[in-house]
Amino acid sequence: MKNFIFQNPTKLVFGKGQIAKLPELIPDNVRLMITFGGGSVKRNGVYDQVKEALKGREYIEFWGIEPNPHVETLRKAIDEGKRNQIDFLLAVGGGSVLDGTKLIAAGIADERDAWEIVLSGYADKQIRFASIMTVPATGSEMNQGGVISRAETNEKYGFGGKNYPEFSILDPEVTYSLSDYQIACGLSDIYTHVMEQYMTTPGQSRIMDRWAEGLLLTVIEIAPQIKNDHTNYDLMADYMLSATLALNDFIRMGVTEDWTTHQIGHELTALHGITHGHSLAIVMPGTLRVLKEQKKAKLLQYGERVFGITEGSENERADKAIEKTEDFYRSLGLSTRLSEVNIGDDTIKIIEERFSKRGYFLGENHNVNSKIIRQILESCK
Ligand code: NZQ
Ligand code: ZN
Repeated sequence: MKNFIFQNPTKLVFGKGQIAKLPELIPDNVRLMITFGGGSVKRNGVYDQVKEALKGREYIEFWGIEPNPHVETLRKAIDEGKRNQIDFLLAVGGGSVLDGTKLIAAGIADERDAWEIVLSGYADKQIRFASIMTVPATGSEMNQGGVISRAETNEKYGFGGKNYPEFSILDPEVTYSLSDYQIACGLSDIYTHVMEQYMTTPGQSRIMDRWAEGLLLTVIEIAPQIKNDHTNYDLMADYMLSATLALNDFIRMGVTEDWTTHQIGHELTALHGITHGHSLAIVMPGTLRVLKEQKKAKLLQYGERVFGITEGSENERADKAIEKTEDFYRSLGLSTRLSEVNIGDDTIKIIEERFSKRGYFLGENHNVNSKIIRQILESCK
């Protein structure tokens, strides 16, 4: 196990009706701005719950943070926050609203332009912020990451820092209004987050392996049930909590990680607007196919513990585990091939060139260069 420091300060406030706790969670003496997306919270009753909870309090509202939040929009929110001397933000929405709010929090506290903060990869100062998370997927409610897009150049990058929300309210009932496609993308995102912290080499930590496998097994178990009924409270509670636990630092203590699939997926979203979770369902099977040899020992463990694959040669078992992974994404109702979303060779070329220019080396062994990224995309055709 590698050395690590673990400190996750986010307070989780989980369950039915917990939005009513807002007055206890947000101090009285702050200047508050609440941030929203395009209006889903008005349709599903979340906005009314927030208004009711904060009755009598003064605050301003910022609307219009879009999916894959645009820096161009967030700059406007930063200006508004500065103008009104805002010192506390509450994000009400999905991962995009929260990620955008993380950048707004940093942008208000920092003189740098918002895109400069993103490109630096690190926000080390920000004003206080918290969330009501309405989409189980990203884990943004309990992690320090944010992913921001720049519409004018079709770029999308993550940034980190000290961006843990002060608290996050998770009420599974707010997920009832999600569409089947949104849920499929959320489950795909969760599964992939776990895979990217797990699918490296075995023997680094029994505890991390078992936690990760527990999450994978849970997602596989609940996915078909959610398809039948996504208004079952206990089911949606497990779905919601699995998203948080998949990316809140708990399953990556002391182990190597491989975020190749996410890095490539972000390019598909930036260039073609593919929904985040869907992009991962396309790329992850390709990543496993191309990196099969270096991941073989872990693939065998995964195949046996998650899918019960015990028959055949090592090669056959590894292939079977990859096939089962692709089958899982397809079972969610997502396509898993570039051709199915009309993406062809021209995009593969652009993505290879982008990675080549950036000089990135991805993967747990830092050996995934632009040529291998091309191979991965070729194998996703
Ligand atoms: O904008 P509104 O009207 O609110 O509608 C949203 C949006 O259109 C709607 N929605 C939200 N809650 C709803 C709802 N519709 C019905 N019922 C509800 N309860 O859903 C749409 C998509 O929302 P979005 O926030 O984009 O989805 P998600 O939570 O999947 O976030 C995706 C973004 O997060 C980034 C992705 O790259 C992408 O930009 N990620 C962030 C991570 C992090 N911070 O750690 C890690 C992830 O890997 C991911 O990269
Ligand atoms: Zn993700």
